[in-house]
Amino acid sequence: MLSVTILLLGMLYTLRRTGAQSVTQPDIHVTVSERDSLKLRCNYSTGGGASYLFWYVQYPGQSLQFLLKYVSGDTLVKGMKGFEAELRKNETSFHLKKHSAHLSDSAQYFCALSDTVPGAA
Ligand SMILES: *[C@@H]1O[C@H](CO)[C@@H](O)[C@H](O)[C@H]1NC(C)=O
Ligand SMILES: *[C@@H]1O[C@H](CO)[C@@H](O)[C@H](O)[C@H]1NC(C)=O
Repeated sequence: MLSVTILLLGMLYTLRRTGAQSVTQPDIHVTVSERDSLKLRCNYSTGGGASYLFWYVQYPGQSLQFLLKYVSGDTLVKGMKGFEAELRKNETSFHLKKHSAHLSDSAQYFCALSDTVPGAA
């Protein structure tokens, strides 16, 4: 059976560390079978201010690539490569999901939080 390995840096990663803002990725290493659904967890903590949430991917030997972002409005965000994430303020979560994982999804995934408009950080 083929399996897809997702590496997550189990670290706090923020585009701009300010105040009490942080994101937490509880899973260090996630393995799923090819064509299974994929879910990468991200919990965030805002200092109460407005914030923007992002998911980035880094494929082996490549630089960081943007997947999707939540700025405002619809809390279900569809991104690149079949990924989507739903902002759930009641759970302070912004989990990344894909319906059918592929071997080529093996990578490191980063959840990030910013209190500034994209591009300013
Ligand atoms: C949070 O809200 C979503 C719908 O927006 C719901 O599906 C989910 O069950 C809620 N979670 C909790 C812990 O209440
Ligand atoms: C993280 O998100 C989950 C929902 O998937 C929620 O149940 C949990 O309470 C959140 N944890 C924290 C520390 O906010």
